[in-house]
Amino acid sequence: MSNETQREQWGTRWGYILACAGSAVGLGNIWRFPYITGLHGGAAFVLIYVILVFVIGFTVMLAEMAIGRNSQLNAVGAFRKIKGGAWPIVGWMGVTAGFIILSYYGVIGGWTMAYVLKSFTGLMQADAGEAFGSFVTNVPIVIAWQAFFMFVTIYIIYKGIGEGIEKYCRILMPSLFVVLLILIVRAVTLPGAGAGIAYYLKPDFSKLTGGAFGAALGQAFFSLSLGMGCMITYGSYVGKKETLPGAAFQVCFLDTAVAFLAGLVIFPAVFAFGIEPGAGAGLTFITLPNVFGKMPGGMIWSALFFVLLFVAALTSAISLLEVVAAYFIDEMKWSRTKAAWVMGFCIFLLGIPSVLGVAGKLPTLAGRDFLDSADFLASNILLPLGGLFIALFVGWFWTEGAKQEVTNDGTVPFGIYTLWLWACRVVAPIAIAYIFITGLKW
Ligand code: PHE
Repeated sequence: MSNETQREQWGTRWGYILACAGSAVGLGNIWRFPYITGLHGGAAFVLIYVILVFVIGFTVMLAEMAIGRNSQLNAVGAFRKIKGGAWPIVGWMGVTAGFIILSYYGVIGGWTMAYVLKSFTGLMQADAGEAFGSFVTNVPIVIAWQAFFMFVTIYIIYKGIGEGIEKYCRILMPSLFVVLLILIVRAVTLPGAGAGIAYYLKPDFSKLTGGAFGAALGQAFFSLSLGMGCMITYGSYVGKKETLPGAAFQVCFLDTAVAFLAGLVIFPAVFAFGIEPGAGAGLTFITLPNVFGKMPGGMIWSALFFVLLFVAALTSAISLLEVVAAYFIDEMKWSRTKAAWVMGFCIFLLGIPSVLGVAGKLPTLAGRDFLDSADFLASNILLPLGGLFIALFVGWFWTEGAKQEVTNDGTVPFGIYTLWLWACRVVAPIAIAYIFITGLKW
């Protein structure tokens, strides 16, 4: 929708919150959070993570929402309208990050769809490691699944805010919760599940090193979809009567809850069968299918798990495409149809080198394949830098405007305003600068 016509808005507050939660809850929650928690000291890490989510994550999320709602524009246009100067570069970095992240996110999204089907067609009987290896090296098939996943993503963005993003998130997010709860009940009632719960949650404070803090903050940023204008873009469809701090808090809460609960599926299941938990893609696409293969009714559990992962990936993917599409719609005056299909297709093309890299058909760069390099560039460089500048922008350069925005022109109380302001000014920038520097060495 162009500026001349009325900008579309979310139908309801709950629809808005579910859309933001849909963006936040993604692969990061389900395959990364449980794993790094296990690695960095269980409950002790969860504690640090929760503190960082609510101190730094909440701060930057509210800052983004305020920028978006105030400007009623995409990430680039928002900075241009509010301050101009060099600030739109921050939005540009965000649009670029969205483009890059979705390119490989779409590939993994395609894997999740393929694995729903595979759960019924022999994956349970096969050696999951071999099955994964032969799947990802079958380039045309992987690209076909990636195309299918991108097609669904593009279709939802093409349908718009209310009839697209909101409508689907209202169905998909509650379904995700139900599936997650069913899987938790299954996992924790397996004989021997206790060892997994102990591994996941027994606090080990000796593992809380500086690296653990960096990992927690980096994870919080990626998981909450911060630093790339996602919450600016979604915030631009929020009406002026809505209150923002409560929404930011609810999104942080839902995202953290899903991440925490995902660990209660994965570790009890893995330990009940005496299997070593792997990491990332390996944990999800190899270890877990092995575990499901050993369970009675494994096909169903496996399919349910990959449906969960698919839904989580899809609602994040649509937010990534919306950041890019909104830019072309507002700034280039493209129609929504053109923005969704053309940019979705370009992003699909950029995903193909990731497919080839995982299949071993492209050389690696500093030990990273194309997908890992793209992830490194976006997650370790663009997102933290974006978050840093967003916090500084609100804290120092747009202070009064942001205050008006988060308090709806002084009409709604925001008790911790001063704390939030100083978190934007000092605490968040220092913390982000720290992860940025440690993240580069990684
Ligand atoms: N938050 C998503 C996840 O946890 C990823 C994401 C990052 C989505 C940035 C949008 C923007 O997987």
